[in-house]
Amino acid sequence: MAVAADVGELRRLARRRTPRMVFDYVDGAAEGERSMARAVRAFDRVEFAPHVLRDVAEAPTSVEVLGRRVAMPVVLAPTGFTRMMHRGGERAVARAAERAGVPYTLSTMGTTTAGDVAAAAPGGWNWFQLYVVRDRARNLERLALAEAAGMDVLVVTVDVPVAGRGCGTCGTA
Ligand SMILES: Cc1cc2nc3c(=O)[nH]c(=O)nc-3n(C[C@H](O)[C@H](O)[C@H](O)COP(=O)(O)O)c2cc1C
Repeated sequence: MAVAADVGELRRLARRRTPRMVFDYVDGAAEGERSMARAVRAFDRVEFAPHVLRDVAEAPTSVEVLGRRVAMPVVLAPTGFTRMMHRGGERAVARAAERAGVPYTLSTMGTTTAGDVAAAAPGGWNWFQLYVVRDRARNLERLALAEAAGMDVLVVTVDVPVAGRGCGTCGTA
């Protein structure tokens, strides 16, 4: 981590160290990967507007999100199968979010239970993401587990009515 100057270098390190299938799950996108390329182009266009010759002794980044203060305007988005990428998995990401003072979102496709995430990061603000499936009892069961673990924000993913090819593992079953 310390030798990586930017995300591109982290990606190159990960590619060297990670099994191909796992790397592709994280790095790849559906079909021709056009929407991902568009997202990358959109981020490339973002530029910080520099304000020079100002007092920057204090540069607070904290903002209010859903009525609570967080350290910066960042939320860690849900990722499925996180333990496939690293044995620390969801617990490690939730702990990092707790340390950074930002919310962490556990995925429906997570590989750690809501209870275990909450136990790993008890001082963190842990959210839960739901893929709504046809089996309503299953949805309610997942929500009950998240709620029992103290997760009080629900993220509903609505843009996966069908899984794109190349995205076989992000299905909603
Ligand atoms: C490896 C990986 C796994 C993901 N798994 C989920 C998931 O389980 N549930 C979900 O709602 N979104 C999932 N997403 C989508 C992310 O939460 C996020 O919305 C998306 O990557 C867009 O944010 P980005 O532009 O910062 O990557 C996943 C994304 C990646 C890259």
